[in-house]
Formats: sequence, structure tokens, C-alpha cells
Amino acid sequence: MTVSEKDAGIIIIFGATGDLAHGKILPALWKLWADGDLPANTAVLAVGRDTALNDDSFRKHARDAAHKAGAPAGVASHWAKSCVFYQTVASDADYAALGERIVALERERGLPGNRVFYLSLPPAVSPKVVDALGAVGLNKSPGWARLVVEKPFGRDLASARELNALLHRYFGEEQIYRIDHYLGKETVQNLLVFRFANSIFEPLWNRQQVECVKIMVAEDIGVGSRAGYYEQAGALRDMIQNHVTQLFALTAMEAPVDFDAAAIRAEKIKALKSTRPITPDNVVFGQYEAGEIQGEPVPGYRDEPDVAKDSRTETLVAIRLEIDNWRWQGVPFLLTTGKRLAERQTEIAIRFHKPPIALFAKLGTQGFEANLLRLRLQPNEGFALQIGVKAPGDDFAVVTRALHFEYEEAFGALPEAYETLIENIFEGDQTLFVHADETETAWSMYEPLLKAAPTLHPY
Ligand code: BG6
Repeated sequence: MTVSEKDAGIIIIFGATGDLAHGKILPALWKLWADGDLPANTAVLAVGRDTALNDDSFRKHARDAAHKAGAPAGVASHWAKSCVFYQTVASDADYAALGERIVALERERGLPGNRVFYLSLPPAVSPKVVDALGAVGLNKSPGWARLVVEKPFGRDLASARELNALLHRYFGEEQIYRIDHYLGKETVQNLLVFRFANSIFEPLWNRQQVECVKIMVAEDIGVGSRAGYYEQAGALRDMIQNHVTQLFALTAMEAPVDFDAAAIRAEKIKALKSTRPITPDNVVFGQYEAGEIQGEPVPGYRDEPDVAKDSRTETLVAIRLEIDNWRWQGVPFLLTTGKRLAERQTEIAIRFHKPPIALFAKLGTQGFEANLLRLRLQPNEGFALQIGVKAPGDDFAVVTRALHFEYEEAFGALPEAYETLIENIFEGDQTLFVHADETETAWSMYEPLLKAAPTLHPY
């Protein structure tokens, strides 16, 4: 899809000198521009506190970001020169000037007054920016005005409600785009297609056929330089409440009545609300110790920069969930995420019941396993269906082999999640964004665990 001329606009990025903007947002904007998916007059207005920066010096930064992401140097420079601008906003008094700059750029570039305000900021700063935007009336515009908020959306139910109330003071829910970048991943979106564009899976997707569902988001990286944030968050807040819960909801939800934001979000929320309250005996917390990843020594969590020597922050969580509805009653959903695990792997595995009678067992069959459907979200995106087949020979030896589908083989490289999400924001499509009710429902699921002092298992 390509953003139409009538939706051409200006994207105003707060926190434009930060890692997320450099690593994801600016490269995505370059790529969308280069592929012609955004109108050529789209403007990128970077906003920061740094008074020493200006259009020229920020363009170097934007050019580097695009170049690192694969743009040839000349193309990256051309994009930065023709689309990227910088405005210092160091205090509330600077918001009026920001408004004037936006209007001036719109006039110069023939833009109809469509504005995306992108908050790529630490959680403590975002509310102040929203207040300041509202105070000068930037929540309204001659075209449309949209607000993009990055996670974390609060750190518990009360703070999520507080944040939503603040956003709603100035922006309607239809203007708010809460990003969970997992929803922008092709393979995550494919979950919906896989389930609802194929008639053969739906009859299998229930308690009669499924023994258990495992959702695993394993990372091999450690906390890196993000301890300042991570020490306060931990794996439950950082990964489970958002990304893993989204995967869970998409796997468990009923078919939506339509393929639009309202219908899909409503079904996800229903699935989350049917989840049985989690009790501590269904949860395991862990913290990584020093070890080796791919032959390289890596430090333990407590030895990472800026981590307290006696830190109680969990870097791994495993949870057993059950859903009290007709489809899933009695089927365990096992959700696991952790840093510094042996390899990076995000996968949803659906294990089906074994056949009721092990006919071939009498013949001394080895390695007879249940059917397993593995939806691999990253890396090696694709899926595999494990089935039992007869090993050639005289006897009835059953062995397990997999039917494979590889995304890359079929379609080549997949787009980055941020490209999809930014394009959707300009198009006004909220399907892949998180609704206020969804984030509050997800927090309420994990609320009982947030206050407990967990036993941490070293790994
Ligand atoms: C982020 C978390 O939201 O997602 C990080 O804050 C995590 O801790 C990252 O590493 C994982 O994203 P991806 O796309 O690499 O799986």
C-alpha cells in the first residue's frame, strides 16, 4: 500500500536523537520515502532539547541512520536534505515556536495540515510533552493530528489508567497509535491470515484437538546498556505484558466479524478477559548468570553496567495460563521469555493430542511424537508441521518429519516492522496498534504478580 497525497503530512519526532529514532524510526522513514510509499513532500521534523543542533547537523545524523540501514550514501544524503528538519524544544515556552515551524513547513511543502506527533521518549517525559502539545492546541490541526506512543504504557494498571486519562484529555482514542512493534512484524500479522484465511486449521484450533500451546520469545542478547530502564521493568513488564500477550491474544482469539481495528481489538480483549487469574504457583522467574553464548563469555545480569549487585529484577519469566471459554477450557498456554538464552527464537508451537490408540507402538515403533505446528516468528520466519511418517523398510517404524514453509524462500526479505507501522499511521489504520482497553486489560492480568517478591532462579 502507498500513502495517498491527501494523507501526506509531517511527522514530528520527539526524542529524535535517541537510539530508537536512529535505529528504527529514521531508517523506516527513509525506506518508505525511497520505495515511494510516502508522498515525496512528506516532512520529518526532528525535535530535541539540544540547542546546538540545527537542520544541517541533524541531517548528518539522519543520513547516518539511513546509511546504516542500507541506504547508499548519496541516496541517504538526498533524502535527509529534501525531507528532514530540526527544531529545538527545550522548555514549554518553545511549543509555540514549534507550532509556527510546523505551519511554515506545511506551507513550503504544500502539505494539507496532517500531523503525526511521535513520542520516542522515556516514560517519565512523554506526559509532559502531551500536556505541552495540548496547551498550545497542537492536538488539533487543519488536517488530522495523530499521536504515537511507544511502550511502556505505564508500569501497572493504575499508572496505565493514569497515562490513558492524560492522553485522552487532549487526544481522542482514534488519534492515538500505541506501538507494540511485534504487531508490525509480518509473521505476527500472518497469524491472522494463517488462522482465518485457511479453512483447515480452524476445526483443529480448540480443546478437542490441542493439548497445549507454547509461546516462546527467547533472546540471546543481555540487557546491554539499558539497565537504567530494565532494572525498573524486568521481563514481565518489558516483554510479557505487551509483546508476548499480543501473541497470546492473536493465537487464542475468536474470528473477528471483520478485518478492521475495532473488530480485531474487540476479539483480542475478549480472549484476555477470559483468562483465568494467574496464581504465583503458575509462574517461574529467573535471572541470568555469567555463561557463554555461541562460544563467547558473557557476564551475569548483576555484573552488567548500572545493574545493582543485589538486583531482584527478573530477566526470564515463564507463565502457565488457562482460558475459561468453550474453545480453550483445560488447554495450558505456556508463555516464556528470557534474555541471554542459548539462541534468539520467537515461536508459537501448537501441540496436538496424540492419536487415541498407539497402533504402531506394538510393532516396537520408536520416536512416535504428537503432531506439532511450529509458527516461527523470528528468525527463519515460516512454519513447520511435524507429522509421523513411515520409515521405509519392512516394519512399521514411525518417524517424525516436518512440512516446511520458509518466508524468505517464498518472498525474499521481509519489511521492517517500523515501516509497516509508520505507513499505517499515515493511512489512519489502527489495526496493528494497541487500544487503551487492551493495555489496561493486559495489565490487570499480571497485576497479582507485580507486587509479589518472586523467587529468582538463576540460569
Ligand atoms: C523491546 C524490549 O520492546 O523488544 C527489548 O524492550 C527486547 O528488551 C525487544 O529486546 C525485542 O524485540 P525484537 O524485535 O528484537 O524481538
